[in-house]
Amino acid sequence: MNYQEAYKKLEQYGQLHVLKYYDTLATEEKQALLKQIDATDFSVLQTGESEASGESARGKITPLSAMELDEIEAHREEYKQIGLEAIRAGKVGAVLLAGGMGTRLGSDAPKGMYNIGLTRPMYIFERLIHNTMDVVKESGAYVPFFVMTSDKNHDVTVKFFDEHDYFGYPKNYITFFKQEMAPASDYDGKVFMEEKGKISTSPNGNGGWFVSMERCGVNDIVRSRGIEWLNVFSVDNVLQRIADPVFVGAVIAKDCAVGSKVVRKANPDEKVGVMCLEDGRPSIIEYYELTDELKSAQDEKGQPAYNFGVILNYLFREKDLEKIMDKNLPLHVVEKKIPCLDAEGNKVSPESPNGYKYEQLVLDMIHELDSCLPFEVVREKEFAPIKNKTGVDSVDTARELLRKNGVTL
Ligand code: UTP
Repeated sequence: MNYQEAYKKLEQYGQLHVLKYYDTLATEEKQALLKQIDATDFSVLQTGESEASGESARGKITPLSAMELDEIEAHREEYKQIGLEAIRAGKVGAVLLAGGMGTRLGSDAPKGMYNIGLTRPMYIFERLIHNTMDVVKESGAYVPFFVMTSDKNHDVTVKFFDEHDYFGYPKNYITFFKQEMAPASDYDGKVFMEEKGKISTSPNGNGGWFVSMERCGVNDIVRSRGIEWLNVFSVDNVLQRIADPVFVGAVIAKDCAVGSKVVRKANPDEKVGVMCLEDGRPSIIEYYELTDELKSAQDEKGQPAYNFGVILNYLFREKDLEKIMDKNLPLHVVEKKIPCLDAEGNKVSPESPNGYKYEQLVLDMIHELDSCLPFEVVREKEFAPIKNKTGVDSVDTARELLRKNGVTL
């Protein structure tokens, strides 16, 4: 793309400020900026404007019942055997979503490199590999492990795993791939500049993981190894059970396109997305979208009808993902702290949110699929998210939960 073409594209999207410092840049920097302008999809910023003004409407919400603990207990052995058989046959892969910026935790390094140990180092990545080893020991088979990173943290993540000898996991079972990036903007939809010759970008959310696996050629490995199920999970839950054979077996036994681990809500106002049907298809409704009527609705057992919150641990049937790969997932506008150049061209790292990032979310993939099994797990045993340094969902609360589960820190 040459300067004139770049100018025209930016003009069309009201982003001409991107060229403010063009004349002051070195030749390579100019080339790099033109290349970035060419590659950037500025149309997402328009979507941002419309979503920020509250235009996204939901369909008809009805309950979707979960497989609860007592039912799981009654079939535990049966499901476990089905799950172990699939794992031993190499049909189950694990996908760690580690492309996020972890801004709330406030560490410059990728979240997985955070050391939660007290008397010895215990990195989040290490903990997750350790958890995966539980099923490796039980099944006698290594689970292929895919790690999604982004442009912002790829190299440092790969180096970290390498320096730590992959925490004892066989290197040839671990594959890294990068997710896509999206521009970040101020509240008026004007893209921020990260440097005078660089548009500010951030990872485009965790919803693009399967498309990114396809683009990076990782799905060739998935297909050649005969992997039929992908267990996707977040980096920040240190009690995460990975490729849990009972969960895998239950989803296979129920012939569902996806399974979602869920926890019973702690209280009706808990800030967690809950499973439901939307226009008859599986879906997740965010806590702020739950009306009082939905909050007080009851199922046939007299229990709250929207009572199971998602914990970002899903088991997807690969062949169903292939069918929905071309569908455009909705873009969510997320308010964040975005480092950028100020009006004078100086770099600033804001203390509070200053603009929007545009993200696709894994939970929107659920709505594209025909069937979903919400699978209840015990919160205290499987859910210790680290979002913040202190307070709710923090390093402190996660340490406490790890201790309760017998982990020495
Ligand atoms: P969060 O929603 O907690 O986002 O991600 P985050 O970016 O890590 O943290 P904050 O909001 O800036 O503090 C949930 C999971 O999705 C992954 C994260 O790494 C985490 O495992 N994720 C998020 C991605 O892989 N890519 C993204 O673009 C965003």
